[in-house]
Amino acid sequence: TGTVNLAVIPGDGIGQEVTPEALKVLEAVDVPVKFQQTHYALGAENYLATGDVLPTSVLAEIRQHDAILLGAVGGKPNDPNLPPGILERGLLLKLRFEFDHYVNLRPSRLFPGTPSPLVEPGDVDFVVVREGTEGPYTGNGGALRVGTPAEVATEVSVNTAFGVERVVRDAFARAERRPRKHLTLVHKTNVLVHAGSVWWRIFETVAAEHPDVTTDYMHIDAAMIHMTVNPSRFDVIVTDNLFGDIITDLAAAITGGIGLAASGNVNPDRTAPSMFEPVHGSAPDIAGQQKADPTAAILSASLLLDHLGYADASAAVEAAVLADLAERTPGTTRRTPEVGDSIAARL
Ligand code: NAD
Ligand code: IPM
Ligand code: MN
Repeated sequence: TGTVNLAVIPGDGIGQEVTPEALKVLEAVDVPVKFQQTHYALGAENYLATGDVLPTSVLAEIRQHDAILLGAVGGKPNDPNLPPGILERGLLLKLRFEFDHYVNLRPSRLFPGTPSPLVEPGDVDFVVVREGTEGPYTGNGGALRVGTPAEVATEVSVNTAFGVERVVRDAFARAERRPRKHLTLVHKTNVLVHAGSVWWRIFETVAAEHPDVTTDYMHIDAAMIHMTVNPSRFDVIVTDNLFGDIITDLAAAITGGIGLAASGNVNPDRTAPSMFEPVHGSAPDIAGQQKADPTAAILSASLLLDHLGYADASAAVEAAVLADLAERTPGTTRRTPEVGDSIAARL
């Protein structure tokens, strides 16, 4: 059996609680490979102690791994010693950008028996292909006359033909592999006309090469109506980095909650390791209490297995989660490690 070199970054808050449960499941699943783990104590605690967010040498070391499992990053809100965004930009986004994670894959399924806040959710099973390296996330912008009444701040969205085309192509390829073969572009082409134009033109061009994929387009605001009123209409959604961020929290909320939402930051060209993490953050409001649901982290490990080519092991983890979800009693809660144990025991 071979070895998978896995970089583990539990990070902050509940990241430190849910990551061990995902590792527990990776240990329990039947997979013809050994996971060789290297743990990196990056995050708020490390930054406050050392002043380092992600030293270049550590970044280079992480790059040598086959995949990354991340918990969450982000310190306590409004900590005077933690400048806003320092960890988000310097650690999380840095990894996504440096390792060219241009496909931020965020599947949403309403698993049987899982309660949804929607009265008639229908059969919800869609995947958001969120662009991961551009848009308003690049840090392109600045501020003038800060703190004066004449202050001006800009955050300029970057959309390159190269960046848009590669994620749009990936989304079409994914749509093609799904039974419904339907792809929705979500944007705001009626207002963001420059960025919207490049997204729309490239979407149309690539669509012409995929006559078997049916397509439609929605403005982001209207898409949120459809996602709330009739989410079963979606199959694959491709969208910009910021829209994708917002959409996927709503998608999580309608499919059983943020505690179930998994994601993969994928480099489809495999020029650097892909990174798997729950959609949720460090949840300072419940951190340290072993209250967090580790299911999102566990399902992220399932995405990791699939990415590495272990489709059977990935499916087995998903099946174990489904079985566990089916036996949850609404209104009752279990501690984080109990959920991990229960899922691992089914493997
Ligand atoms: P959050 O996702 O951490 O929490 C939002 C709400 O969901 C909170 O009420 C929290 O208790 C709840 N929640 C989240 N995960 C849960 C789980 N597994 N089980 C049960 N409840 C859960 O979002 P936030 O409060 O906006 O952000 C907190 C910090 O995390 C910020 O610093 C933010 O920048 C960071 N963040 C990091 C990531 C990441 O690492 N990928 C993602 C989102 C936010
Ligand atoms: C997410 C998070 C991040 C994002 C933040 C923490 C940078 O919200 O993974 O969804 O906006 O991508
Ligand atoms: Mn988010």
